[in-house]
Amino acid sequence: MHTRVLTGITTTGTPHLGNYVGAIRPAIQASRDPNVDAFYFMADYHALIKSDDADRVEASRLMITASWLAAGLDPERTTFYRQSDVPEVPELMWLLTCVTSKGLLNRAHAYKAAVDRNIENQEDADAGVTAGLYMYPVLMAADILAFNANKVPVGRDQIQHIEMARDIAQRFNHTYGREFFVMPEALIEEQVATLPGLDGRKMSKSYDNTIPLFEGGPKALREAIMKIVTDSRAPGEPKDTEDSALFTIYKAFASPEETATFAESLHGGLGWGEAKQVLFERVDAEVAPMRERYDALMASPGQMEDILLAGAAKARAIAGPLLETLREAVGLRSARHKPVAHQAGATPPVAPKAKPPRFASFRDSDGSFRFRLFGADGEELLLSVPFADPKAAGALRQALSTLSGAQATIAPEGDHLALRVDGEVVANSESYPDAAARDAGLGRLRAALDALASATAEEAAAKAAQASGQRP
Ligand code: TRP
Repeated sequence: MHTRVLTGITTTGTPHLGNYVGAIRPAIQASRDPNVDAFYFMADYHALIKSDDADRVEASRLMITASWLAAGLDPERTTFYRQSDVPEVPELMWLLTCVTSKGLLNRAHAYKAAVDRNIENQEDADAGVTAGLYMYPVLMAADILAFNANKVPVGRDQIQHIEMARDIAQRFNHTYGREFFVMPEALIEEQVATLPGLDGRKMSKSYDNTIPLFEGGPKALREAIMKIVTDSRAPGEPKDTEDSALFTIYKAFASPEETATFAESLHGGLGWGEAKQVLFERVDAEVAPMRERYDALMASPGQMEDILLAGAAKARAIAGPLLETLREAVGLRSARHKPVAHQAGATPPVAPKAKPPRFASFRDSDGSFRFRLFGADGEELLLSVPFADPKAAGALRQALSTLSGAQATIAPEGDHLALRVDGEVVANSESYPDAAARDAGLGRLRAALDALASATAEEAAAKAAQASGQRP
């Protein structure tokens, strides 16, 4: 079985050594595994959320494309494309938007952080927040679900987005009654080093401590390496390799043997200046051949355009048929093959039977067992707390399916509702914008529990009747 691995790269920056070691190199390595079907793309629609500098977005798309190709990505065996060349992605985003609860997006870390900052600065909560930032998780869900990706390699800061993609996918599956989407999982590469930057903190553009990968050539690479912060030990004094950014970067490029030799030299008193020269030479040995390819690609952007458009065509061959299915499922259907219902003599359309409320169990990303209660119209009414033991989750589900709405202990808790059993909160509703909406939600929740309890009772009666030989 092939595992479809998919990841996006936001095109706002210039690739640096940290990107290479933390993302580009492992992703290319993974793409060579014959059991992996790799989808890597420029998240250039996401870039527009972060930057309105058109030239910068344009330049970044080119530099990132060239970097991945130069580093050895094979566009033949992978699907390498720009998000904005696949119109199925924004189309799917809309379909997903319409089943995504606003409350879910209110809880997204990036949005919440922006709101918290505003409140701290005594500004309007949403000051400077675009709807683009707010919708970021839905666009990302569309990126992933359009290709039914199994694994999504991301940094820790993106785990919540993958959870949201699963959430949204489940909602859509439930609403339209079929498993249209597979549940994607975040892939956190534990063994991949996060490279320290010049100042020893994680190498990141936001800390302004990066070492460029290709841009600026060997000169810029060398200059940056010379700026790595070290302690003040003089040549001849033994150096500590433990907390040394310089040594950590070396290690990310060298073999274990080379690393051991370098550590010995440092312990033996190698001066930091010389050590930086050794580091530059080691990094450049790996980077120089790639840089040559990079420069050639940057000199012929038309070649990159061809590669990316071919990648987009491959991507669309997957997303296109899926979107056709989804359009059909949501009712965006061709009128051509339909008998017109209101013609004389035609039977009037039958109102679809309301789906009864139902539970949906799932395994959370941390391995715990949880379930949701959906109302008749597919609205999420409750999300259980996590259980380590699936039996405990099952027992609670069972108990709730026989409890009438009036018997249940449900009370407002801040902006949502909490359901308690024996004094413990066992399930929560989503957040409601105000008390009136919360009260209305409480009514729907009690009604759903009533409907469930009577369905359970009916089922039990039917079983009992069957057991006693009668027809129900
Ligand atoms: N949000 C991701 C980041 O900032 C980039 C991204 C966009 C992405 N769409 C994606 C990553 C889909 C994985 C899958 O790193």
